[in-house]
Amino acid sequence: MFYEDVCETAAYIRERIDAVPELAIILGSGLGGLVDIMEDKSEIPYGEIPHFPRSNVRGHAAKLVFGRIGKTRVAAMQGRFHFYEGFTMKEVTYPLYVLRQLGIRNLLVTNACGGINRSFRPGDLMIITDHINLTGRNSLIGENDERFGPRFPDMSEAYSGELIGKAKAAAGKQGIAYKEGVYLLFPGPCYETAAEIRAFAALGADAVGMSTVPEVIAANYLGMKVLGISCITNMATGIATEKHTHEEVLRTAGESSEKLCAWVRQIVQDW
Ligand code: HPA
Repeated sequence: MFYEDVCETAAYIRERIDAVPELAIILGSGLGGLVDIMEDKSEIPYGEIPHFPRSNVRGHAAKLVFGRIGKTRVAAMQGRFHFYEGFTMKEVTYPLYVLRQLGIRNLLVTNACGGINRSFRPGDLMIITDHINLTGRNSLIGENDERFGPRFPDMSEAYSGELIGKAKAAAGKQGIAYKEGVYLLFPGPCYETAAEIRAFAALGADAVGMSTVPEVIAANYLGMKVLGISCITNMATGIATEKHTHEEVLRTAGESSEKLCAWVRQIVQDW
């Protein structure tokens, strides 16, 4: 059933695009402006796509945008599905199955997150080197369909060393400063307590957020290469002196958006 649904969704999309993109991009909160660097765009609202979940978080549009950055064909997900919205992990990762079924083998995932590493500052961009899935939940739990991927997928290079190298080279060309670190998934929707952040720091996390990890697990399972870039929108609870708000997250992400756009444009141009 699941396999047939994915094929049906992919077939629907394939009819509406000229060619298979080389790269999929998931746009994080406040980072939707990345679609502005795409040319020859066409859009498909999630609501029109068969079997797609429906998203409605503020700051997240809900559509697939196809187009080009330079010569590279790109599919951007403007709006993602979060576990805290009540979606199952399978629903959160459904678009990844579809993108892979379309033939896309590279994923750039972006997000807004809180900084745990005290050398970080709001507005910093961080290359995700690895992640910690603290939820105890996994989108791959359940019967495995070998047509998608193996029962026990390897996660030793969850974030591709090759793509991290490309990102670093592109940052060098553009003179963009970046951090590197481990992203920890917190299910949310409340922000963390100060005690939780102290615990996560002890576990080796540099940043904390409520997304990305399920998609990255699915992408690895599906044989995709992943590059992850986080925007540190605030310092995490107990490190920050102010209380968190979603508005603050969106504002800081928006302010970093230009830097991220320049970086992503360079990464994709050199693809
Ligand atoms: N915690 C979790 N998720 C977030 C944060 C945070 O501090 N900032 C943006 N997303």
